[in-house]
Amino acid sequence: MDSQQPPIKINTICCIGAGYVGGPTMAVIADRCPSIQVHVVDLNQSRINAWNSKDLNQLPIYEPGLDEVIKRARGRNLHFSNEIKKGIQNADLVFISVNTPTKKKGLGSGQASDLRWVEACSRQVAEFAQGHTIVVEKSTLPVRTAAAIQTILKASNQTQSKGKSARSFSILSNPEFLAEGTAINDLENPDRVLIGGEDSEAIEALALIYMKWVAPEKILRTNLWSSELSKLSANAFLAQRISSINAVASLCEVTGADVREVSKAIGTDSRIGTRFLNSGPGFGGSCFQKDILNLVYLCHHFGLPEVADYWESVVNLNTWQQHRIAKLVVKNLFGTVTGKRLAVLGFAFKADTNDTRESPAIRISKDLIEEGAQISIFDPKVKQKQIEIDLGIAASPPPNKKGDLSQAALNGEGTWWQTSNIRDAIDGADALLILTEWDEFFHIQWDEIAVLMRHPAWVFDARAVVDPVAVRSAGLKLWRIGDGSE
Ligand code: NAD
Ligand code: UGA
Repeated sequence: MDSQQPPIKINTICCIGAGYVGGPTMAVIADRCPSIQVHVVDLNQSRINAWNSKDLNQLPIYEPGLDEVIKRARGRNLHFSNEIKKGIQNADLVFISVNTPTKKKGLGSGQASDLRWVEACSRQVAEFAQGHTIVVEKSTLPVRTAAAIQTILKASNQTQSKGKSARSFSILSNPEFLAEGTAINDLENPDRVLIGGEDSEAIEALALIYMKWVAPEKILRTNLWSSELSKLSANAFLAQRISSINAVASLCEVTGADVREVSKAIGTDSRIGTRFLNSGPGFGGSCFQKDILNLVYLCHHFGLPEVADYWESVVNLNTWQQHRIAKLVVKNLFGTVTGKRLAVLGFAFKADTNDTRESPAIRISKDLIEEGAQISIFDPKVKQKQIEIDLGIAASPPPNKKGDLSQAALNGEGTWWQTSNIRDAIDGADALLILTEWDEFFHIQWDEIAVLMRHPAWVFDARAVVDPVAVRSAGLKLWRIGDGSE
């Protein structure tokens, strides 16, 4: 940056996309920078209404600590609306924080990211922006997406230059590294903030915002392409650790080793580190799978099939792990679950979130329903409507007090229903599966639970949350991830 040049001052921010990233990220920016007006805009009116709801329990996403941040900033300098045009017109800086899911059809289907929402945003910015606007990619994007955004903005400048006041754009990449369930802490105390770009003045303007609460040495500056690729690579590395430890877990189960002991022994090597070595039912969430598949697509596109295969195996192992758990439940219940009652405890993809995107519980429940099981699902934060969407099957009425099977069950069809507590889920069940590590599952009183079940009764603990001694002494059979206990 030219040392004579005063830094660009950002007074007004517009964030397009009020989702899991846009909402919490802008809330923290507004909280930490009271002098900046932050407008979060979204096409989805019901989401916006939920962000504006007086009752903070009705916010569209559940995230510990979010309600407090919203309480401090909303209405002061944090605003949620569907006024996209106005938001962009008034902004010095626009974050693009929209969804980038895997393409479902056409070229690159099943691997490439669907960029239609990012393109739509770029066109909206191209149409409505005034003066100089810094456009920031907050969404996770394939490497070189900034070039496409640049082309759209440039083209609009050429066509609109006549008769309009001068407009100009700088493009930055500023990927988000927050994890759901810990988003507020991750945003308030990030390991790093990554800013990629070519325009050093724009980079410094964005860095100044983060410097209100992030130590300067944690703000990394790179070129655009390194920043875009770092985000995909970080997720691929994290997911690769989970597939690695899940692969080891399956080997532990057949050899008498215990994955928790192996994980500790591996992780204490400071070169490896202890985090992200918990084996489980496979990784879920909206990003790991989509980002790795995107990387796979890019590798093929750039003529690197061996590299593509390497990353794809991380996803393949994850899918295998989920089917494996459903299969071993069936195997242990005498080879059939038709007409049997199974309780699924936890449907979110991890604890402390209501998000179910790519949750391992979806594939495992579907496999068991396919086998004819009667599944009762309990999750402290996930709503029945969401489970219906995820399973693609409407909920059935729960069995009556006598435990009579529904007609569908008598016909051998799998069904499911939701319960509002653990006891109701377990009542009359042949087995329970723990699929999310919610805190309350660590404190289950196994003596009280065991008497509610039909024996021989099983506990399948895919998150290693139970105390094996307490489960067994309550007369229950136990399978626990990574040690094959029975
Ligand atoms: P999300 O689906 O929760 O939210 C995206 C929002 O964008 C939706 O509410 C949608 O209505 C809105 N939207 C789409 N197109 C729009 C348009 N043209 N104008 C206005 N609004 C529009 O998605 P998310 O989980 O917040 O993820 C957003 C991006 O951040 C993705 O690229 C994702 O990979 C990345 N990311 C997500 C996480 C996470 O934990 N969820 C973490 C880091 C990065
Ligand atoms: C992940 C990354 O951790 C974030 O840094 C990133 O910003 C985000 O993806 C994204 O780009 O969306 P998130 O998916 O919210 O965050 O949650 P994680 O804590 O990473 O968990 C992902 C999945 O892996 C969960 O299903 C979790 O249960 C599983 N997991 C995690 C394990 O099975 N074992 C572990 O040791 C850790």
